[in-house]
Amino acid sequence: MQSLLEVFKQKVQEALVTGFGAELANTDPLVTPSTNPKFGDYQSNVALSLPKKLKQAPRKIAETIVANLNVADICETVEIAGPGFINFILKPGYLANLLSEIQGDVRLGIERVQPASKVVVDFSSPNIAKEMHVGHLRSTIIGDCIARILEFRGYDVLRLNHVGDWGTQFGMLIAYLREAYPEALTTANALDIGDLVSFYKKAKARFDQDAEFKETARQEVVKLQAGAEDTRHAWQLLCDQSRREFQVIYEILDIKITERGESFYNPFLPEIINILETQNLLEEDAGAKCVFLEGFTNKDGDPLPLIVQKTDGGFNYATTDLAALKYRIEQDNAKRIIYVTDAGQANHFAAVFQVAEKAGIFPDKIEVVHVPFGLVLGEDGKKLKTRSGETVKLKDLLDEAVTEATRDLKDRLEQDNREESIEFINKVGQVIGISAVKYADLSQNRTTDYKFSYDKMLALKGNTAPYLLYAYVRTQGISRKGNIDFSHLQGAKIVLEEAAELILVKHLLKLGEVIQEVERDLLPNRLCQYLFELSQKFNQFFENCPVLQAEEPQRTSRLILADLSARTLKLGLSLLGIEVLERM
Ligand code: ARG
Repeated sequence: MQSLLEVFKQKVQEALVTGFGAELANTDPLVTPSTNPKFGDYQSNVALSLPKKLKQAPRKIAETIVANLNVADICETVEIAGPGFINFILKPGYLANLLSEIQGDVRLGIERVQPASKVVVDFSSPNIAKEMHVGHLRSTIIGDCIARILEFRGYDVLRLNHVGDWGTQFGMLIAYLREAYPEALTTANALDIGDLVSFYKKAKARFDQDAEFKETARQEVVKLQAGAEDTRHAWQLLCDQSRREFQVIYEILDIKITERGESFYNPFLPEIINILETQNLLEEDAGAKCVFLEGFTNKDGDPLPLIVQKTDGGFNYATTDLAALKYRIEQDNAKRIIYVTDAGQANHFAAVFQVAEKAGIFPDKIEVVHVPFGLVLGEDGKKLKTRSGETVKLKDLLDEAVTEATRDLKDRLEQDNREESIEFINKVGQVIGISAVKYADLSQNRTTDYKFSYDKMLALKGNTAPYLLYAYVRTQGISRKGNIDFSHLQGAKIVLEEAAELILVKHLLKLGEVIQEVERDLLPNRLCQYLFELSQKFNQFFENCPVLQAEEPQRTSRLILADLSARTLKLGLSLLGIEVLERM
């Protein structure tokens, strides 16, 4: 279904052509949803942009547009305001027709894109033998949400976990474990990730101090790269160990992702160097091979290099990203490639994209985007740490959210004198706790840092997951109480008279606009804001308009509004990776 925004754009465009001739066919009709409902539902400012071109006063232009507008079926009124703004107010009957149309559609009127082009979303991407940290948590939550939205729109999404599973750290770790804990390299499950992390630290310390050890570690890397069997096997075990730990987090968060780590691109790295060489882009800088960048300078104003091969012949994070980019374009046939990492990697991606472009690795019609996000801060406004000052383990953080949510729930049940089963309490605590963490992250503009606070994210009031989940529960309460099967309301008459009904309905019909916006700008907080406002508008409707007690035809009509609110919330929340509850 065309969104209302698109409908008005088209109408204004048509009026411009009828009123002023075909040369205005490509004029942007400058239609936006009205910021203030006082001025109507949608508005066009196009008349103000045309006086020069048409040599007429804007108000006069607006009059001509309005005289040629074919919106009698859609608008209650069209007004010209001030110097020439055109304000549209929608007709309730038209809104009712649109609602009837989406009522029978599981996709609520949101069309699929054609063709279903390939999109890569590179997200989560923790590092083997290291702990997954809150930055990876943000990447996981935001990346999953973006992938869900694009999948819903019909894109062929490839979710990739670009894990850090390659490089000198493995030589170091394997060399260390050979002396300190050889079983770890031959037996599966001999270590858990906590041990692995502490071994990693010890290995690093040895590496930095002991030249002989450094050499052994280097040889292990060579063996790993050459595919020596025992080193490979050891590496595999280390990767499996970490993988299992990551999987625990993915299961809690309901994340589906395909692992394709840095090691996957190892065979393609020499080719990247070749390409850069043939394109005359390579330069030597203190023995390292690099490409000098445009627009990146050090503090003396000299151009900065992107190093693609170190003095010892080893390749870099950037080299792998160049190879990955090439592979995703040529083999995966991706048309859009989205990287979700912390804002600290913005320069890395800008540099990689620049070099890839110069080297002809990515053609113009392909879009590559870095989706940066800010830090997760503790309530003290500093980088999130445990009380003892250590980095927070994700598993602990999520468990704590569930524990707090369950505690709140129990308090609430006690206050209301409600008896519920253990299963109910566990399930609801789990869903609220995890949703709260996800929603707190997604509802912030991702580019800013955000403060992690259990109290705030678990509050029943405000822009929080529990508030939205509760609005959904209210909709289900109506059907339970009235013993109503929402799916049987199909085709009944919709009557819209009360202000609260109209406000709710107009909002319901904006879902498509919002989804398109998120698809373009990759800002999930817009969808959160939409769902928050939907919950507020539903609550206002519910408080102002009796539903089960109303007379027909209002009763059925309002039930339809409740059902559509429920389905919109459920769909929207599912796109955020949040499951709804029937009761809570
Ligand atoms: N492993 C990296 C990190 O932990 C993130 C990888 C992001 N993806 C990429 N293609 N570089 O910071």
